[in-house]
Amino acid sequence: MKKLVAILMGGIFAASVSSAFAVESCVKCHKSMDKVAEYIKKSGVKSADEFVDFLRNKSAKKALHKSVKDEDIKKAFAEASKK
Ligand code: HEC
Repeated sequence: MKKLVAILMGGIFAASVSSAFAVESCVKCHKSMDKVAEYIKKSGVKSADEFVDFLRNKSAKKALHKSVKDEDIKKAFAEASKK
């Protein structure tokens, strides 16, 4: 029984780690998060909130990002700034 729990926990851990490398709602259109990270760097935003503001209001591509959630935008920023 303990072993089963360990395997289960391992699986959950692996799943959460792999999702840390890509924000699902972004990679639907953006093939890789590397590209997104590059865009973030170029935009010059310094915080997750600034990035939300940029993608929502300032970007020329803002219309394309209406459907993405704030939390996903913030997640993408957190991920990009790790690199
Ligand atoms: C509906 C499709 C779609 C989704 C979903 C999407 N994007 Fe985009 N995004 C685009 C397109 C198209 C561009 C234009 C550039 C390109 O072709 O890569 C773009 C451009 C950008 C840019 C550059 C904007 C600029 O003005 O410099 C950033 C940053 C960006 N996306 C971040 C994100 C993040 C973060 C997510 C997830 C939260 C996301 N995108 C989800 C389609 C999408």
